[in-house]
Amino acid sequence: MKRRSKQLFFSLSFTLGLSSISVFAATTTFPSLSSLGERLFSDTNLSLTGTQSCASCHNPEQGFIDTRENGVESAVSLGHDGVSLGHRNAPTISYAALSPRFTGSNANNASGGQFWDGRAGNLSDQAEAPPLSEVEMGMLSKADVVSRLQENSEYVEAFKSYFGENIFDDTDTAYTAMASSLAAFEQSPAVSPFDSKFDRSIIGEYRLTQSEMAGRNLFFSRGNSCVRCHSSGQGQGQAQPPRQGQRGAGAPQRPPRGATAPPRGMGNVAVGQVFSNFRYFNNGTPSNIRLNSILQSTGQQSEFLATGDLGLFANPSLNGDRNSRGRFKVSTLRNIAVTAPYMHNGVFKTLKTVLEFYDHQGGNPLRINNPETGMAWQNAETPQTVDRRRLRIQNNFSDVDINNLECFLRTLTDQKFEQQLPPLRDGLGCS
Ligand code: HEC
Ligand code: HEC
Repeated sequence: MKRRSKQLFFSLSFTLGLSSISVFAATTTFPSLSSLGERLFSDTNLSLTGTQSCASCHNPEQGFIDTRENGVESAVSLGHDGVSLGHRNAPTISYAALSPRFTGSNANNASGGQFWDGRAGNLSDQAEAPPLSEVEMGMLSKADVVSRLQENSEYVEAFKSYFGENIFDDTDTAYTAMASSLAAFEQSPAVSPFDSKFDRSIIGEYRLTQSEMAGRNLFFSRGNSCVRCHSSGQGQGQAQPPRQGQRGAGAPQRPPRGATAPPRGMGNVAVGQVFSNFRYFNNGTPSNIRLNSILQSTGQQSEFLATGDLGLFANPSLNGDRNSRGRFKVSTLRNIAVTAPYMHNGVFKTLKTVLEFYDHQGGNPLRINNPETGMAWQNAETPQTVDRRRLRIQNNFSDVDINNLECFLRTLTDQKFEQQLPPLRDGLGCS
């Protein structure tokens, strides 16, 4: 099958770093399908008012998240009309290509997929949604989107050369071709470069500081909770991570000098680590009261406000499994230090809060208050399904532990975004 072999080529090219060379009919403007996807990703003409593109909510210069000022502290996003608000935080799309295709039919075997609730099977399915979403790009039909594409003669040429002369004869096929092009961009090494300090430390190009190393050891230690959910084996998604000993995609093999090799018996500390097992859990995240009251007062998202966010439960493949209520996909932690605010509803503003929250969930009786609000931690939005067993932490975290964990999480930042790391506020530092 033609499309399949094309996909195979792109994952192969990811591994080999050949993304700029294509054996398929490249055009002068778009030498690869991924370069076409990259342009589409930032094209505001694919929204009703011509004001919004994928990049508006997934800014390629800033961690692929929504950094626009919008009155709700970027907890959720504004749509093309400048008024409509969604009810979920826009996740980074970096490393999203490493999430395998969605599988499963109940709360315990569900894994992979795109969106917080996995309702899109893969990147290509996902990319079909935003242009037609009322609260996002707001286009009225696939046909309208396809005719917007045809307004651009460079697109017309590229679509014909990558997908065949007759690609515009059928609206659905042309629309799917647009989605595949966007997915090709999202699968490219530019979006998942594996060049963070963490990756560089494994191949001996960076030496983790004492605090970063202490944080890494806490993170991967079996007595602590993180590794039970935020650790992947080899990525099985639509893009392949580089193998151990390889930097980024297609980098020359370099023997690891072992400068910062992890202690034995730890989780999978490898370059291809994506920091998610891509399963679905309830980590006890509370609802975002401030956001909800703004939604209420502006008369938006009433359906969501009535039920709260049921997460995985809303995924049609779950057939209403009640145990899936309030579960969300385990997020990748790559680029986490530059992608605040946190959780599906953006309820926490800083990593320090997230870490103290987990310490509280893990059983530390001293973590009484949310440091952002100064008030006692709120209950989970869906208390029934919180995974107390996996969240348990053997030895409570000290403030120094929390600082070290934050230092480690900062090392998961792609090189391109390193200058955007927020300042450390507590003065403990990461040396
Ligand atoms: C108005 C803001 C907005 C726009 C525009 C937008 N997105 Fe998103 N995106 C979001 C939000 C919010 C979510 C999470 C929604 C959910 O999980 O229900 C999301 C989720 C995603 C995910 C899933 C990531 C993951 O880890 O699960 C991908 C991939 C993605 N968007 C790609 C795109 C592409 C491609 C486009 C353009 C065609 C686009 N987005 C346009 C806000 C936006
Ligand atoms: C039971 C599984 C589980 C454990 C254990 C766990 N997490 Fe998570 N983590 C999740 C899930 C699920 C989410 C998304 C939850 C949501 O949005 O409601 C998440 C979200 C996060 C986020 C925010 C991601 C984002 O993009 O907003 C961070 C940061 C994080 N976890 C770090 C950690 C750290 C550090 C530890 C160890 C102290 C840890 N997690 C332990 C499952 C887990």
